[in-house]
Amino acid sequence: MLPAYLANIGPVFVGGGAPIDMGRKWRDGKPILGPGKTWRGLLLAPLVAALVIGLLRWLVVSTSWGSVQDWSDWGPAPWWLAFAYLMGLGALVGDAVKSFFKRRTGRDRGAKWPFFDQLDFVAGSLLFAFLAGYALAPWSGTNVFTDDFTWPRLLVIVILTPGLHLAVNWIGWKLKLKDVPW
Ligand code: CTP
Ligand code: MG
Repeated sequence: MLPAYLANIGPVFVGGGAPIDMGRKWRDGKPILGPGKTWRGLLLAPLVAALVIGLLRWLVVSTSWGSVQDWSDWGPAPWWLAFAYLMGLGALVGDAVKSFFKRRTGRDRGAKWPFFDQLDFVAGSLLFAFLAGYALAPWSGTNVFTDDFTWPRLLVIVILTPGLHLAVNWIGWKLKLKDVPW
């Protein structure tokens, strides 16, 4: 999950520029997604996930951090890099879908929306991981999702992520990277 988490933070650094909705409004007169959802954030931040998975794999293979056997069924590199990118993309698609409904409920950019703000990217990244697992399996020779995302692990992810996310946002706010502490 670390690649997806870090991709989700990525837009704070690589975001900006043209908004996904190009400034257009929905029928209710409010922005479709709002100025906080940009193309750069959506498409560049998932590269962070690919970078992080490469770094983690290097740590495990080249240092004594873990056993290489645990990683041997990932198939060839391009596919697990693609899997990580798609997981990161899923996190940001989930975030953007959340913003669509956030605007519809009348909440402005950056407003607080408990549970949805904390779980949007988990739902998005896991859905994309599920789809990417099956879509990439014919090429990679293995389904990373069914191999690694077991039910106990999914449960731990869903339970631990909201608290982790709030803690990271608070740190981002303290470092003046974010305007709000949530
Ligand atoms: N960001 C971006 N592109 C994205 C997602 C985020 O450029 N696809 C940047 C924006 O500068 C945004 C910041 O990252 O303000 C923090 O992201 P987030 O908290 O998801 O956005 P909010 O501004 O809170 O907007 P919303 O209320 O729609 O969640
Ligand atoms: Mg926000």
